[in-house]
Amino acid sequence: MFRPIVLSSALAVFAPLCFAAKPSAGDPCAVIAGKAFVQPSDALACLKSFPFNETLRQNVLSHNIARVFDFFTFEDYYLQSPPPFQESTVNIRASLAKINTTKYTTDYDFNVDLYDFITRLNDGHTRWFPDCYTSFQNLLPAPIVSLEVNGVQGVYIVPDLVDFIPLLGTDFTDLITIDWQRLAGAKVVSIEGQDPYAYVDFIAKTVSGNYLDHGVRVNSVFSSYRLSGSDYSQRFGDLAGPTGVAQNSLTFKLVTVNSTKVETVTVPYIASYLGAAFTDKASYWANNCVATDGTNGIDFKGSAALQSNTLKRKQPKGNIIDKSNSSAVGLPPQFEPTLPTVGGDEGVMKSYILPGNQTGVMFIGSFEGDFEGFQTDTASAIAAFKDAGVTRLIIDLTNNGGGFVCLGQFLHQYLAGTRIGYPGFQSTARGNALARKIVASDIELGLDDTFSFYTADNWAFLNGTQMPADYNYMTPDVPVVINGKADATSQRFHDTCELEFEVPMPDTPPFDLQNVAIVSNGNCASTCAMFSTLMNEREKTKIAVFGGKPFENVEFKGMAGNQVLEWFDIDSEIKTANLKDDPLAPADLLVSGDFRHNWRTAWSFFNENEPIAYVSELPKFRFPYTLETYNNPQNLWVFAEEKLFV
Ligand SMILES: *[C@@H]1O[C@H](CO)[C@@H](O)[C@H](O)[C@H]1NC(C)=O
Ligand SMILES: *[C@@H]1O[C@H](CO)[C@@H](O)[C@H](O)[C@H]1NC(C)=O
Ligand SMILES: *[C@@H]1O[C@H](CO)[C@@H](O)[C@H](O)[C@H]1NC(C)=O
Ligand SMILES: *[C@@H]1O[C@H](CO)[C@@H](O)[C@H](O)[C@H]1NC(C)=O
Ligand SMILES: *[C@@H]1O[C@H](CO)[C@@H](O)[C@H](O)[C@H]1NC(C)=O
Ligand SMILES: *[C@@H]1O[C@H](CO)[C@@H](O)[C@H](O)[C@H]1NC(C)=O
Repeated sequence: MFRPIVLSSALAVFAPLCFAAKPSAGDPCAVIAGKAFVQPSDALACLKSFPFNETLRQNVLSHNIARVFDFFTFEDYYLQSPPPFQESTVNIRASLAKINTTKYTTDYDFNVDLYDFITRLNDGHTRWFPDCYTSFQNLLPAPIVSLEVNGVQGVYIVPDLVDFIPLLGTDFTDLITIDWQRLAGAKVVSIEGQDPYAYVDFIAKTVSGNYLDHGVRVNSVFSSYRLSGSDYSQRFGDLAGPTGVAQNSLTFKLVTVNSTKVETVTVPYIASYLGAAFTDKASYWANNCVATDGTNGIDFKGSAALQSNTLKRKQPKGNIIDKSNSSAVGLPPQFEPTLPTVGGDEGVMKSYILPGNQTGVMFIGSFEGDFEGFQTDTASAIAAFKDAGVTRLIIDLTNNGGGFVCLGQFLHQYLAGTRIGYPGFQSTARGNALARKIVASDIELGLDDTFSFYTADNWAFLNGTQMPADYNYMTPDVPVVINGKADATSQRFHDTCELEFEVPMPDTPPFDLQNVAIVSNGNCASTCAMFSTLMNEREKTKIAVFGGKPFENVEFKGMAGNQVLEWFDIDSEIKTANLKDDPLAPADLLVSGDFRHNWRTAWSFFNENEPIAYVSELPKFRFPYTLETYNNPQNLWVFAEEKLFV
């Protein structure tokens, strides 16, 4: 290994010479090329080196995003979001018009303005990801948590800092210019001159996004444990791991462990590069910013799968994209569960039996991955619990980003039994003019659910009968009035997930539902939110949320849209329906990016006039994290077993 200190002092003498000789001199992207970690200011210089381009603004904003918003089910709710979600109130069309007329110097400035506006809708299904400018994650070697210590809650630098940060490697730690190890477990007195919880609120309001509820976003500011894919991981949190390179450092007032002295420490951010390789400005643009073959949709009628006759029904998804997940760092191994897993443990869930053999735990990191494997893992975990005489079940949904809509309904039905009948919610799509044309055109073309999410055979009537593919559920449409605006909406329908269940379903609950409990940090997105809402609304399951800000509510469901469509998906719907030339159709993107949107609404079982997203449902139990539980899932489950089952 090179010793950077020696090298840099030797190089310093020659640096001006070398620089002048290089062909790429003055190219701010060449300076950072090939490096995994760079100074945020250097990264920013590269990102800001592309001048503002009106053609690209009109392509992205007017011809793409403004038209995709026509499909966004919650548009009119934003005019005045009901309490407790009023923070997410904004006039979407007025904001787009403002961004359309703002004078920008660089392409970065335009895209970041648009990114921030859409992120602050706080709907993880409705996000603008311009790949050119989401390629860096800023990492602060001082993630924070809210802990209860000696009966008092406060903000701390993560106590496992010395075990956690080195997992990023010496390329990262070599760049940290301060003595960071001594900050482990320090009590934070202020951040950027503000009370730490007030600063956490500010980050929750401006940076976090994804979750309609402010309290849930507060928890995503903090560091937390999670399963990333099938691996234990520790999330940096949105203070210490935001997307982008907006800041160079953060100033804390803090008291280190075993000290009583308040001191001021400025901690540098270091930018982690997650994008495609490049060598200079031109190749950065070519490899990260220009639309690729996968950016825009395709006409599925001409797809290779069709020729080979392997088209399968498309599976609806409800999930978030967590960019901060890309550099997923492991949980220090000493904090992983020590109990052996039972059932399958290769997928997105890991199951355990707690000491005493009374309680089984299923830690479900997402509803993604292998659609059938999730079902067989559920069945084998529950069989193993029954064999061991387990009578109680804890389901950990911490940082579950959602996934396949039908796996949420599968898990609900598996736990509640087929006796409950339909395991999901009533649903609708927006009935805007282009959506109505798509359904009509799909019918005329004789398409079905292997081509399109719009054809009626994806759904069932409310009596449970699957709709025929040529049924037009957009005509007549149903006007729904939201904040005084009438919005054409489809007829109501059910999902048809039962057609996709591949393991035998129990008739009756495998465990008394009073002995089933859910624990999480509220960061439970989409399919996860729908699953936990079903368990709350229909099975009265005990739900406990950990963490959050003292004396401030946290919902147990983070973001509860229904089905998300990526830009690729909605564009493919339009192209497959032969409607790309329609004046209402959004244009292909010229840049590499994704404007995803919430495409369907799930209506609450409690009140079928309210989308579950806007129904406040608080957990019956709230617990602060402690030194023992914040990064130690097994300790948390043992704590929950004692508190939730009497
Ligand atoms: C703006 O972007 C368009 C589309 O990529 C490109 O054709 C045009 O040359 C750009 N304009 C300038 C001034 O660079
Ligand atoms: C932006 O301005 C252009 C030019 O005036 C106009 O054609 C377009 O419709 C506007 N787009 C939005 C979203 O306001
Ligand atoms: C996080 O990353 C893992 C591993 O790459 C992936 O399986 C998972 O879907 C990602 N989750 C989110 C929410 O982006
Ligand atoms: C703090 O003091 C305790 C008790 O003397 C000691 O065990 C511990 O190592 C100290 N921690 C630090 C970070 O100095
Ligand atoms: C729990 O089950 C295991 C495996 O069958 C057994 O070895 C252990 O003694 C049991 N513990 C208790 C407390 O019953
Ligand atoms: C369910 O409702 C649809 C539409 O009203 C109707 O065509 C169908 O026959 C009904 N199915 C049953 C089993 O009642």
